[in-house]
Amino acid sequence: CQEITTIKLDASDNAPTISKHIYGHFAEHLGRCIYEGFYVGDSSAIPNSAGVRLDIIDALKELQIPNLRWPGGCFADTYHWMDGIGDLDKRPTIVNTWWGGVTEDNSFGTHNFLNLCEELGAEPYLSGNVGSGGVQELADWVQYTNFKGKSPMSDLRRENGREEPWGVKYWGIGNEAWGCGGNMRPEYYADIYKKYVTFMSDADVEGGIYKIASGASNDDYNWTEVLMKNIPKNMLQGVALHHYSVIDWDAKGPDVNFNEDTYFKTMKESWLMEELIVKHTAIMDKYDKNMEVDLIVDEWGGWYEVSEGTNPGFLYQQNTMRDAMIAGMNLNIFNNHADRVKMANLAQAVNVLQAVILTDKEKMILTPTYHVMNMYKVHQDATLIPLSFDSPMYAYNKESLPALTVSASKDANDKVHISFTNIDTKNGTPVSIDLNELGLKNMTGSLLSSENLQDHNSFENPNKIEPKNFKDFKFKKGMLEVTIPPFSVLVLEGIK
Ligand code: AHR
Repeated sequence: CQEITTIKLDASDNAPTISKHIYGHFAEHLGRCIYEGFYVGDSSAIPNSAGVRLDIIDALKELQIPNLRWPGGCFADTYHWMDGIGDLDKRPTIVNTWWGGVTEDNSFGTHNFLNLCEELGAEPYLSGNVGSGGVQELADWVQYTNFKGKSPMSDLRRENGREEPWGVKYWGIGNEAWGCGGNMRPEYYADIYKKYVTFMSDADVEGGIYKIASGASNDDYNWTEVLMKNIPKNMLQGVALHHYSVIDWDAKGPDVNFNEDTYFKTMKESWLMEELIVKHTAIMDKYDKNMEVDLIVDEWGGWYEVSEGTNPGFLYQQNTMRDAMIAGMNLNIFNNHADRVKMANLAQAVNVLQAVILTDKEKMILTPTYHVMNMYKVHQDATLIPLSFDSPMYAYNKESLPALTVSASKDANDKVHISFTNIDTKNGTPVSIDLNELGLKNMTGSLLSSENLQDHNSFENPNKIEPKNFKDFKFKKGMLEVTIPPFSVLVLEGIK
């Protein structure tokens, strides 16, 4: 019998807002993410809006996706945006050197992406090409997308059928500049960064554009330190961080038929996110006491060997209850660090890595990760309710990890949401929370669980894993008692 974990909530009023942008997504020209994923072309028999699948648009609207990062990733530093505008039959092709060496025909370009974001009600987050592009090229992209008046680029935009600018706020200045973005030293990148942003116009975007520096990989704390030290704060709104839950880059393990050993190692990598945020944040605090610069985790998620029989360069993997654990845990971590983490982008939205949506020709399924994102969307732009507790441990062999992550928030209608993720494979976690201070009268719940960790939705059985109503808790006189089942995600909603 497990000991009861007491969770204490701090209902005082000075907690930060959980930025909705923590629930962001990422769509790269990689494998079947854009082509055969989002984009099927307007002559396709699959129902579409300007070539983008309607079932995907509907599913992402339901998630209330706040932002979408594009066109990469590593692809971004090979991408020349002008190749993707104007007459389709005049667009040049390029080779997608990072992802499978396939020919990119540039049929999905700036207009397609920005119009899609408008349709989704999501903010676009454009990744500029620093590695193989030029300062003028990026400055022109900003002018093309954002300038209201008459200029060479805004005239070109109009010629291509778009009168009003899109007003793109979020701009990444290169991607993984330490690696596929150019193999730079942080000192060199910091200089280059300043040069690029100097020529990116703030005009026509309220409050100016929001510039995000290509950030550290995992525990490269020196990268963050050099950027924070060398880039003036008025030039820098966000510093990125990339961390994937990958157990070993040379032996990533299978997407579905993994054992508990692999599962434990994946959870260990996933839990590392907490330490990475704490340590990168501590460096940022040193140079930015007033919290003017945000931490942007613009790539995160599970990364395994590709599904058997698929192109290794396409990074297609199934999505199991293990992925639900990664999602639930990481989103709780981000929520609890809402003072500094203002945006995060799950890699990637469709058919790549920890996708929320998988497609097979006309078929489309929602993954367990999709359901977690959907359950947790209640935290978007809600006020964090800080909490404290000692997590029971999930022990495996001679190691152990905290079994439980939890985060809580209060939304604009005074509804309180508490999200729990229990990664322990065998033990349920009983918890007790005194909610008296919040004056809640009624409580409902939604649970995502399944019999086996390896369970997943498939094209044959698309609804095997779905959230279910959950009533197995006691809520009396403001005291909540509930046991979070093994490897499950639970979200409770309390109403006054
Ligand atoms: O998401 C896949 C790749 O992972 C991205 O292109 C790159 O930025 C990262 O290494």
